Amino acid sequence: MKSRALGATGVRLPEVMLGTWGLSGDAYGAVTEAEQDRVIERAYRLGIRGFDVADSYAHGGMEERLGKRLADKSDSFIVTKIGTDRTASPVKRFDRGFLLAQVDACLERQERDVLDCVLLHNPSAAALQRGEATDAMKELVDTGKLKHWGVSVGSAAIGEAALDQDAPILMLAHNAFMDRDLAILRERVIEKRTGVLARSVLSHGLLCGQWPPHKEFPATDHRSARWTPDELRRRTGQLEALRALIGDDVLTMRSSALRYVLADPQISAMVIGPRDCTQLDQLVRESGRGAPYLDEQRLKRFANRLMDVGVTR
Ligand SMILES: NC(=O)c1ccc[n+]([C@@H]2O[C@H](COP(=O)([O-])OP(=O)(O)OC[C@H]3O[C@@H](n4cnc5c(N)ncnc54)[C@H](OP(=O)(O)O)[C@@H]3O)[C@@H](O)[C@H]2O)c1
Repeated sequence: MKSRALGATGVRLPEVMLGTWGLSGDAYGAVTEAEQDRVIERAYRLGIRGFDVADSYAHGGMEERLGKRLADKSDSFIVTKIGTDRTASPVKRFDRGFLLAQVDACLERQERDVLDCVLLHNPSAAALQRGEATDAMKELVDTGKLKHWGVSVGSAAIGEAALDQDAPILMLAHNAFMDRDLAILRERVIEKRTGVLARSVLSHGLLCGQWPPHKEFPATDHRSARWTPDELRRRTGQLEALRALIGDDVLTMRSSALRYVLADPQISAMVIGPRDCTQLDQLVRESGRGAPYLDEQRLKRFANRLMDVGVTR
C-alpha cells in the first residue's frame, strides 16, 4: 500500500485507514467482538497502519479494542476523536477541563503513555473561534500527552475556523458526489500544508451502487433517518454517473468511488468503514495500487455526467 505525508506533521501513513464507527456497532447495526478483532488484525496484515476511532464509539469500547489489538504493533497510528459528553446537554463539550480529562481517559483506554493523534470531534465554528479547545490541544502536545492534533469538521465554514486556529490535521466528509468542502478549503490547505483525512468516502454505502431505489434500513441504522424515501430514490438514480469512471481495472462503482478520493493529491489518507473482513478485502483490493487511480478522460466524462444527473458538488 502506498504511503502519503500527513500534511506537515512529519508522519507518513499508508493511504488507506481503517475507520471504526461502523465496526463499533453504533452506527449501522451490531458487530460481534470477534469480527471487530478479525477486521482490525486483517487490516494490519493488509498494510493498514492508521486507525480512526472516537471516545464515543461503543462508549469507549472501540478504543479499548484498538489499544489491545495494536499494543505490539509500534508502527500503528491511532487517531482518536474527543468532545462528546453523553451526560451533558448539549452533548458536545469543548471546554479545557473536559478535554484534558478526556485525553487522560483515552490514555487509559488505549493503555498508552502518549496518544498518537487526537481530533476535536465535530465542534461548531464558534467553539473553535473561542480558542479554548485548540489551545488545550496545543497544551496537550506541549506536555507530551499527545503527538498530533486536529479537527474533524462538519462543514467548510468549520474547516475555515479550524485552519484559522492552525489545526495541522483536518478530517472531513469527502466523496465523488460531495467534494465541495475540500474545494472551498483547498487553497488554504495547500498553503498551510494541512493533513487531510477523507471520511464517508462511500456516502455511507450508497456509492457502492448495490441498493434498490426503495431500500429500507432498520431503526438502529443511522441511515434510516438520513434520507427520506424520495431522497434515496433520487440519489440511487444519480449513481448512474459513476459508470463513467468504470473501465480497465476499475470494475465497480465501489472501486470508482474509492479511487476518486485517492486520485486527489490533497488527501493524506482515506478512512474506510468496513463492517466485516469481506468488505475490508473488497475495499483494499478495489482502491488500487497507486497512481494513476483513474483515467483523466474518464474523470472529465464523470464531471459532465454529474451535471447531467443534477449533482452540484
Ligand atoms: N465526524 C466524524 O469524525 C466521522 C463521521 C463519520 C465517519 N467517520 C469515520 O469514517 C469512517 C467511515 O465513514 P462512514 O461510516 O461514514 O461511511 P462510508 O465508509 O462511506 O460507509 C460505510 C458503509 O459502507 C458500506 N460498505 C463498506 N464496505 C463495503 C463493501 N465492500 N461493499 C458494500 N458496502 C460496503 C457498509 O454499509 P452496510 O453497513 O450496509 O454494509 C458500511 O457501513 C467511520 O468508521 C469513522 O471512523 C468520522
